[in-house]
Amino acid sequence: MKKCPRCLKYDSDNIRFCRHCNTELFFLNRFENSSSAVYNTLSTVYDLLDIIYFRRSEKSPRTALVSAITDAPVKVLDVCAGTCTNSILIAQNKPNAKITALDKAEKMLKIAQKKFRKKGIQNIEITVADACNSGLPDGTFDVILLSLVLHEISEDLQSAFLREAKRLLAPNGEIIVIEWERPASFSERLKFALIELIEPKIFKEFLKKDLRRFFENAGFTVLDKQSCDYTVVFRMR
Ligand SMILES: C[S@@+](CC[C@H](N)C(=O)[O-])C[C@H]1O[C@@H](n2cnc3c(N)ncnc32)[C@H](O)[C@@H]1O
Repeated sequence: MKKCPRCLKYDSDNIRFCRHCNTELFFLNRFENSSSAVYNTLSTVYDLLDIIYFRRSEKSPRTALVSAITDAPVKVLDVCAGTCTNSILIAQNKPNAKITALDKAEKMLKIAQKKFRKKGIQNIEITVADACNSGLPDGTFDVILLSLVLHEISEDLQSAFLREAKRLLAPNGEIIVIEWERPASFSERLKFALIELIEPKIFKEFLKKDLRRFFENAGFTVLDKQSCDYTVVFRMR
């Protein structure tokens, strides 16, 4: 069954337009159809990622992300927040930030809530929703994060995530994207091979993609691009 990203109703796999709201449907691959199930299963081990790849705080994309956010009061939306590693770091370092964390995998968000309790975090609100159709009001957020998610979805879906992010962005707001980047050194490439092994097939194509051009073609202005361990961090509006 295919789920419409706009009205969230289900229909058969072989139709192109949703029969309920006429939205053009994406031809989702099996991974996308089952991504909540995959992440609900992975939720208890997901945070190993940071232990394996982002140990060096000074080169971590999480640190770059926090540095890119102002100390002034801001509304932050963490799209596809997972276990909320980014949201928690922002909450701890930017006390004036009001954070909303959105994901469709409830078990990832349950792990996040356990982490909030353990760390005494109070300024993160959780929303179970689809990143293509969040139901949140236009122009609400000063900062929107899309971290480690675009690489595992089709180009149609990437465009839908970006369209929704643009709709939610406040005037002069910024979108911050963290994505995997193949490292240069041999030892790091060996470690990166594990990521290449577990990610869906489309990941290999994604790594070849000129992300700056993709974002610019989607109507964004890239403000900054920073290389971090195994990843790259884009700031754009
Ligand atoms: C690789 S995790 C990234 C988690 C986190 N952003 C990070 O930086 O560690 C990808 C997350 O995207 C979520 N996700 C994938 N497709 C989604 C969609 N259409 N709507 C909401 N969440 C989605 C998954 O449930 C998963 O938690």
